[in-house]
Amino acid sequence: MHSPETTRHETGNGTAAPVVIVGAGHSGVAVAAGLRSRGWEGGVMLIDAENEVPYERPPLSKELLKDGAPDESAVLRKERFYADKGIGRLAGITAESIDRNSRTVLLSDGTGQAYHRLVIATGSRARPLTLPGAGLPGVRCLRTRDDALELKRLLVAGARVAIIGAGYIGLEVAAAAAARGCDVTVLEFQDRVMSRVTSAPVSRYFEQLHGRHGVRFVFGAAVTSIDGGQRAERVTVADGTVFPADVVLAGIGVLPNQELAADAGLECRDGILVDGDGRTSDSAVYASGDVTRFTSPVDGASQRLECIQNAQAQADRVAAHITGQAAAEPEIPWFWTVQHGVRLQTAGVRQPEDEAIVRGEPSGGKFSVVYLRDGRLAAVDTIANLADFRTAKRLIAQGARIDPVLAADPGIPLAEATSSTPNHSDADLAAARS
Ligand code: NAI
Repeated sequence: MHSPETTRHETGNGTAAPVVIVGAGHSGVAVAAGLRSRGWEGGVMLIDAENEVPYERPPLSKELLKDGAPDESAVLRKERFYADKGIGRLAGITAESIDRNSRTVLLSDGTGQAYHRLVIATGSRARPLTLPGAGLPGVRCLRTRDDALELKRLLVAGARVAIIGAGYIGLEVAAAAAARGCDVTVLEFQDRVMSRVTSAPVSRYFEQLHGRHGVRFVFGAAVTSIDGGQRAERVTVADGTVFPADVVLAGIGVLPNQELAADAGLECRDGILVDGDGRTSDSAVYASGDVTRFTSPVDGASQRLECIQNAQAQADRVAAHITGQAAAEPEIPWFWTVQHGVRLQTAGVRQPEDEAIVRGEPSGGKFSVVYLRDGRLAAVDTIANLADFRTAKRLIAQGARIDPVLAADPGIPLAEATSSTPNHSDADLAAARS
């Protein structure tokens, strides 16, 4: 490790050490903007490994991949916003280590950046495939805009695309690739799609939706190798089946970029541990977004959330704490995905053992699944049902008890399915839970 020169970077307003934010994804940029909107007059410095105006990630696996879509995806804030707000940006520079004693971040350009407060918003990275052949040309993951643009170049009509993982990335790309005329096979380890985030009825609905667009699925698929000469040509799974593939996309989850924090001795456990204000185990260091692990204010569960809503909400709490102000009330986490034009909206965090009650008929294209934990509404998945999504967010926040029989009737508004003492026959209850 090189020794740092004296700090030389512009730090925005003022001369005292700035708030330094490492990572310019949704959360890092939201912290910078939040500090200014809350009246912070000291310096603010964003350090960004990517050499681009910070951009939105959701379009990378959706709109950006569409035929004819421009390569520029939406930026989080216009370029001039940073100058207008006195937010310094170091783009294309990586934070290499933190010296907590001198409150300095050592940077990849050999300099040191002093901080008054440090915010680690380094996000997560695609979990790498570790198989023979994973390094062959044509094997891709999708995390950055460059990843998306490279993938788009490969998704030409007629290309045989093997997607490893039927999570959000795998399914959104499967939809985009099918729409571009590719021949798509999804190889998933589990026995259904999106098993991490949703229940079997929703999985079934999306599997059938993809099937209608020509996407094939192989479940229980343990990929053993990717083979080819100059580039990927085929994928082999454990039972010996071989799938020809010109393009292989791995969407097998993410890992938190916590090394910077862990190496500095901050407490980490699959995520940097933070409290409700985003503080780490060092009171001068905060963390925000995908990279954090924290206790849910809703149900006390330890969680690491990979979603825009959390990236922004946590950023607000960090900005509030640094400026000594009150943060907004905690919000119920929410998520969305769009596949073949169908939008799945989720509120709350479902646990596999939650009781799942289906409202409406999936074949009709409009339905919800409500998830009950100890009789209380814990989460909801909605398809074409904004009313249920909005109502559920409110009811989850209230810790509302839900009557499973009433909730199973889509003719009864969800708000009227609340109950303190459900009193139904075993047969009615069994029907609701089926
Ligand atoms: P994911 O966790 O949603 O899904 C990964 C899938 O890969 C799981 O179904 C898992 O069972 C499967 N898998 C894992 N290892 C495997 C293996 N060796 N072989 C076959 N299947 C395997 O993660 P994904 O889709 O990679 O997404 C990454 C991140 O991007 C997440 O943070 C996600 O929240 C975010 N994202 C969110 C979107 C949204 O909210 N709409 C859209 C795109 C990405």
